[in-house]
Parts: sequence; structure tokens; C-alpha cells
Amino acid sequence: MEKTLQIHYREVDSPDLLDPADRDLLQRAIEASRSAYAPYSQFHVGAALRLADGSVVTGTNQENAAYPSGLCAERTALFAASAQRPEMRDYQALAIVGCDAGGTLCEASPCGACRQVMAEYERLQQHPLRVLCYLAEGRVRLFQSVADLLPFTFQI
Ligand code: THU
Repeated sequence: MEKTLQIHYREVDSPDLLDPADRDLLQRAIEASRSAYAPYSQFHVGAALRLADGSVVTGTNQENAAYPSGLCAERTALFAASAQRPEMRDYQALAIVGCDAGGTLCEASPCGACRQVMAEYERLQQHPLRVLCYLAEGRVRLFQSVADLLPFTFQI
């Protein structure tokens, strides 16, 4: 039987059209991206995760001369939050921004491994984790749930 899967997302043309809390989170991700450690790709990624109590944990990509040893910004933020606040493993939203070698904000879309990690925390908390991706020129893509970013997640 053939089946079709639909995903839902929203795009806005400017951060000004976001809720103030989402706008702030995006701003935190932009600020975080400036402290990325990305000497090899020169692609700086910032992630900002808002916890259920309103606090924010940020992450940036951390590269390494042994390339696969590096880690994306999203997982750096999620793992830091999970490690530092295990009692608050409850996440409202994750904002992601990318910045190219010239310092220009550009499209950021989480890689598959980061989606898998997001999906597990979303399953754990039993309510949606929203994801905001900065696109370019102020445009932002919003997903109401990680389920829209990664269907048929691996789980055991
Ligand atoms: N990167 C992230 O931080 N997040 C993603 O979702 C995709 C890629 C990083 C990894 C690497 O440091 C650089 O971007 C180029 O791939």
C-alpha cells in the first residue's frame, strides 16, 4: 500500500514576526554562533535551547583536527543542557543559526544526527520541542515538533 507523509512548518520573513520569546532565542543563537570553534569548515553554527523554566542553554559547533570527533551546535546545546540540568530535561524550543566564513548569517538546517538526538528528547518529555531555523536575510522556518523534521525515528 502506498502512503504519503505530510510535514508541517511555517516561514516568516523577519524575526520581528516571531513571538518575543522566540525572537530572543534566535538572538541568543546568533550571539552563540560567534563563539563557535570551526577552524576547518569556517561555518559557524549557534544553537539556543529554551528549557521549560525559561532558562536558555546555548551551544556552538566544536570541530577537531580528527574531523569526526567534532560536534554540531545543536547536540552541544542539547547534551550540555541534559548534563547540567538533568532534573529539567524538558525543552520548549531550539533555535539554530549558521554563519558563513564571511560572517553572513545563512541557512541552517539541522543534520540527521542532530534530528535523531532532538527526537529522543522530544519523546522523553512527551510534548513537542519546537525548532526554529534561521534561513537567510531574516527569514525563519519554524517546526512545531521534531516529528516534522524526522519521521520514523530510530528507537529502542
Ligand atoms: N553543523 C552544525 O553545527 N549543525 C548542523 O546541523 C550541521 C552542521 C556544523 C558541523 C561542522 O562544524 C560545520 O557545521 C560544517 O559542517
